[in-house]
Amino acid sequence: MFEIFKEGKVYELLLITESNVTPVGVVRKGRSLFFKLFPGRSFRDILKNPQVSIQLTNDAELLVKTALNRPVHLKFERQSGYRWISGLPGFYGRVEIEKKVWKDELGETEVLECKFLPEGVIKGKLEARPFSRADCVLVEMAVLFTRYLLKPRESIKSRILELDNLYAHLGGVSDVADYMVSVLTKRDQNRH
Ligand SMILES: Cc1cc2nc3c(=O)[nH]c(=O)nc-3n(C[C@H](O)[C@H](O)[C@H](O)COP(=O)(O)O)c2cc1C
Repeated sequence: MFEIFKEGKVYELLLITESNVTPVGVVRKGRSLFFKLFPGRSFRDILKNPQVSIQLTNDAELLVKTALNRPVHLKFERQSGYRWISGLPGFYGRVEIEKKVWKDELGETEVLECKFLPEGVIKGKLEARPFSRADCVLVEMAVLFTRYLLKPRESIKSRILELDNLYAHLGGVSDVADYMVSVLTKRDQNRH
């Protein structure tokens, strides 16, 4: 079932909980998928209800917009306590949780270590979408941006702005890239 995921490699997938959709970095070990959740809506949802879906997408903008809670147009389906995005392939199942304390350069926080145990397959199809480095860059910008929101640091901000230049150089055009840059530059204006 999970053979499409190479063991140990991190895949960016969509996690669908009771009230949220967010990208998560998922690693397969054997017949389970593992991911970590930092405090937020999905974290709270999973503590209340461990029934989730994990779906694949090759749409970088969808990953990024759901991470930043920007508007997206998605249709959902519900079945026996689960919900998922119509049309995208994936799995539904339960999550076993361990609450841990996470320490890094951003400080100390709680983290949920999640083990996803699949119960069923969600049928769907990925759109034909040619590979573009611009999409990789957009995703990287968003990962750094979500860290920046937790702890604003000049080094992260400059890295995001550098990546935005590379994104434009590679022909990338996206409202969500503009949104990230506008938040970063507005923060500066507010300080003066
Ligand atoms: C590509 C990508 C992967 C991410 N992976 C994770 C993850 O594995 N765990 C996590 O807690 N946050 C991850 N994030 C950050 C969350 O999307 C972001 O912090 C979000 O606000 C989570 O909060 P929410 O549950 O309230 O939506 C990722 C962001 C991006 C752009």
